[in-house]
Amino acid sequence: MTAIKPYPVSPRLDVPASIPRPPYVGLGDVDEDYQGSHVQTPEVIEAMKEAGRIACGAMHEAGKAVAPGVTTDALDRIAHEYMCDHGAYPSSLDYRNYPKSICTSVNEVICHGIPDARPLEDGDIVKIDVTAYKNGVHGDNCYTFLCGDVDQASRDLVTHTQESMNRAIKAVRPGRSISIIGRIIENYAKRFGYGVVHDYTGHGVHTAFHSGLIVFHYDEPRYDVTLEEGMTLTIEPMLTLGDYHSHQWDDGWTVITNDGSRCAQFEQTMVIRADGAEILTTLD
Ligand code: MF3
Ligand code: CO
Ligand code: CO
Repeated sequence: MTAIKPYPVSPRLDVPASIPRPPYVGLGDVDEDYQGSHVQTPEVIEAMKEAGRIACGAMHEAGKAVAPGVTTDALDRIAHEYMCDHGAYPSSLDYRNYPKSICTSVNEVICHGIPDARPLEDGDIVKIDVTAYKNGVHGDNCYTFLCGDVDQASRDLVTHTQESMNRAIKAVRPGRSISIIGRIIENYAKRFGYGVVHDYTGHGVHTAFHSGLIVFHYDEPRYDVTLEEGMTLTIEPMLTLGDYHSHQWDDGWTVITNDGSRCAQFEQTMVIRADGAEILTTLD
């Protein structure tokens, strides 16, 4: 297996002027600096269902196109057009100067891979991370797709990464510490000897893309926020076949494993309800 290298990046795609932009667009590399509550109103949550549905549809539409020879740039265009056709702005586009509409992270790229002219190869795994903004709120999700004939160890990694997310989702409840999420994911990952990426986390998401609420995927009991009904957040574990340490390319975005081991990721946006999580990034 050959290491992933950067390929040319096409010009950023246009979004129709009729589609409202999130407030950070055009501001460069500035933090959102959200200071409000982590608990959202019923109106915000209702709006997030639509943003989440669009993000989910765009992600799976791009995922259907995954095949040997297809470029990640082509996946970006599919998701971009899906979001625009549904009246949503692709939240990643111009978020802190990010140049494309989604993230496509192949093999040892952990996250924030920039779609480019690299054709997918038989045996690749590709994380497609899509966030959509509509009616003032975001929905954020990611799924790992298989390209052609993928080796068994990678397939297992993908299955187990999704399972780690699902187990954490099942455990969240009002009154529990947010640290239960990382404890469950890390304990599950350990069974298989996987690395749990530390440097990138889940987050609060609603009117802000990244609200400041942190969701660790490893056991971090010192960050002891109590979950409350109406909180909206992502759980998005990144598990590796090797070590969890990472570094970034000098493009300022692409994050890769130091040891070149493969990484899988799944992400969903949810709201904390009285009886557990309700997923917002779904087509249902
Ligand atoms: N969607 C990513 C997340 O899960 C963030 C991507 S930011 C970008 O938080 F600028 F890289 F797109
Ligand atoms: Co996210
Ligand atoms: Co995401």
